[in-house]
Amino acid sequence: MDTFYVTTPIYYVNDVPHIGHAYTTIAADVLARYHRQLGEDVFFLTGTDEHGNPAARAAERRGVTPQQHVDEMVVKFRELAQQVDATNDFFIRTTDKEHCDRVQAFIQQLYDRGKIYKKSYRGLYCSACEAFYSEKDLVDGHCPDHDTAPEEVEEENYFFRLSDYQEQLLAHFDDHPDFVMPRSRFNEARSFISQGLDDISISRAALEWGVPVPWDRDQVVYVWVDALLNYITALEYSGGESRLERFWPADYHLMAKDILKFHAVIWPAMLMAADMELPQHLFVHGYLLMGGQKMSKTRGNVLDPFAVMDKYGVDAFRFYCFREVTFGQDGVVSLEGFENRYNSELANELGNLLSRTLAMIRKYNGGALPPPAEGGELALAAATMGADVAAAMKTVNLTAALESIWSFVRALNRYVEENAPWQLAKDEARRPALEAVLYNLAEGLRISAIHLYPFIPSTAARIIGQLGYQPGDAGLASGEAAWGSDATGQQIEPGEPLFPGLTETAATAP
Ligand code: MSP
Repeated sequence: MDTFYVTTPIYYVNDVPHIGHAYTTIAADVLARYHRQLGEDVFFLTGTDEHGNPAARAAERRGVTPQQHVDEMVVKFRELAQQVDATNDFFIRTTDKEHCDRVQAFIQQLYDRGKIYKKSYRGLYCSACEAFYSEKDLVDGHCPDHDTAPEEVEEENYFFRLSDYQEQLLAHFDDHPDFVMPRSRFNEARSFISQGLDDISISRAALEWGVPVPWDRDQVVYVWVDALLNYITALEYSGGESRLERFWPADYHLMAKDILKFHAVIWPAMLMAADMELPQHLFVHGYLLMGGQKMSKTRGNVLDPFAVMDKYGVDAFRFYCFREVTFGQDGVVSLEGFENRYNSELANELGNLLSRTLAMIRKYNGGALPPPAEGGELALAAATMGADVAAAMKTVNLTAALESIWSFVRALNRYVEENAPWQLAKDEARRPALEAVLYNLAEGLRISAIHLYPFIPSTAARIIGQLGYQPGDAGLASGEAAWGSDATGQQIEPGEPLFPGLTETAATAP
């Protein structure tokens, strides 16, 4: 059986989760659900990055211990995963003892192999990024991401021989043109490597909140080394037996561009140093922006995903994220844009289409789904959509996949108008044509629901249920999307409108 392993970054717990965290988690969930539909053996990992300065400082500000702070904050991140309907197979915390033990074993192994050495170091350190900067990387003397002045730090640290891996990394990039996607991010990472790599400090002396360096308890492991290792430690301890062999190398690490360098340079070099395989792909999506600015905790322009989901439902939020902003690019999100799409697309083009179809089946066919019909052009369009979705999902083009599905939903809307079942119903001689039109609409909706399932899972299940199918037998899980592949004749079960509230019209036949 094919396996599929997808990860999100593990999120910092210095503040509450925001829409950007929800975004990556939903994207990973869409992929996980899609690959399960394909019948693959899937592992989907998310979690929290709990060590390091920001968490320790946040605890200090609140007057609690770091452990108390992270124990409280992690609740919100677990809730976020649940609330966006993420089907993650495990939630890793870097404070898990099992993780910490394995981080120690990993760096001990590199130390024993001579990949790590001690030296005294002086540098400019941004504690919000947890990274050292050289003068040339700063903008007016400030961190390019946080706009704060870095501190000058001088310590004795352990260094990882990153510079040894430059050639090997470049060769890997050249041999694997889709190692980093999209292409612009690949070029960015490759060009960074080709400019030359310095060894990096992988321990901190002044910090207490971290994993102790096993051979020198005065130091803790650099938080990024600790964090990156989550992708393999989780596989080792999340189940009864290690899943490392089954799922490593990962298929996709998802992230935004802020952490590309860590994933495209340091992480592969660490794996090379340990003689481990590299992940197959890093997919770098864009930033969700509000009013043209990246949303971030420090800038305080954060849209609360909990509030949006409470008001409009999780699926509407999941849909909006990938519909509004091309996955892979930056894009602006707003409440206004959200409400527009909710009204015009979800409530009208999808919700209303279902309620009209069901109302007509009830009115003209006693509520029974008519027998299968040929489908004609609609069936062809459904097959084309299926092929387009598969091609788009293969390259993680979530927006293109959704666009193909939506073109088909629009074709269904046109089909109702062009075939005017209410006219056919006036003439008993045209009864076979009427039944065929009603079947085709229902079948088009069933197939749309199957393709929509990874994006809007509960809505897809409700569509299937209202059409009178059991969620299990309508191929939601197996993606059984061929025209006419499911039994019919059952009674439909109209229910509440899919997306109520704004402009959805009543479920009556025209
Ligand atoms: N802890 C590190 C990651 C370690 S992974 C081994 C970290 N955490 S974070 O909380 O800052 O999360 C950063 C990630 O959150 C981004 O890479 C992205 O996945 C997501 N996003 C945060 N803000 C975002 C937007 N405004 N838009 C899109 N994604 C956003 O970095």
